[in-house]
Amino acid sequence: MWASLPQSRGLHCSVRLLKKQQSRSAAEQRWLQRQRADPYVKASQQQSFRCRSAFKLLQVDDKFRLLQPGLSVLDCGAAPGAWSQVAVHRVNSAGTDPGLPRGTVIGIDLLNIPSLDGAHFLSNHDVTDPGTHAKLQELLPRGRAHVILSDMAPNASGFRDMDHERLISMCLSLIDLAEKVLQPRGSLLCKYWDGGLAHRLQERLSSLFGSVRTVKPDASRKDSAERYFLARMYREPEK
Ligand SMILES: C[S@@+](CC[C@H](N)C(=O)[O-])C[C@H]1O[C@@H](n2cnc3c(N)ncnc32)[C@H](O)[C@@H]1O
Repeated sequence: MWASLPQSRGLHCSVRLLKKQQSRSAAEQRWLQRQRADPYVKASQQQSFRCRSAFKLLQVDDKFRLLQPGLSVLDCGAAPGAWSQVAVHRVNSAGTDPGLPRGTVIGIDLLNIPSLDGAHFLSNHDVTDPGTHAKLQELLPRGRAHVILSDMAPNASGFRDMDHERLISMCLSLIDLAEKVLQPRGSLLCKYWDGGLAHRLQERLSSLFGSVRTVKPDASRKDSAERYFLARMYREPEK
């Protein structure tokens, strides 16, 4: 069942794009038709999510229960902010339920992320930059996150192998970040595009986490190479 969330001030990315379209190519027409037929686009509008991607995280979290009240969450590649909306609700970082512990949500993106009650955003920041890691350590309670989420993606070049390699290398840089900020026994959920180098990322994750599995939530389009690695039970390397 889809969760309902408090209203947000955010715009729906799909609607914004629809309105911007003045003259449309055939490819744009196909995209629009797909958007109109997509039940997750409609549901995201009805539930005031900033993007349909909210449902990917909701579905993963409904199954694996990563996000609990009181936890600290880093949302990498957070713009426009739909995953952060889900995280704010589930870790109670806006304090909506005074009877539950209050968590923390910090989002980072190269782009501007419109503000959201209960989240602290670092807009115009590169997750792969060690300078960003230092800022995150300062912002997180006791310098640690219980969960790192990454829905990061580079701008697609249209060359599948190249895009795959770029995203894998971004995911590998998340491991550097995890080594600085992730709590022992913490979790990492990161998007990748399937391809020849995915096993390298999986091996690296398996050397650091007690369990690593591939997940593809229903809201992730069937014809897309998009997958997520869910790595749990982080084992801090001995120093
Ligand atoms: C698919 S969108 C994320 C959508 C988001 N999960 C949501 O639900 O609103 C991918 C984002 O990754 C961001 N991104 C790509 N490379 C990045 C980097 N090196 N550092 C930070 N953000 C990055 C992009 O700017 C883009 O906003």
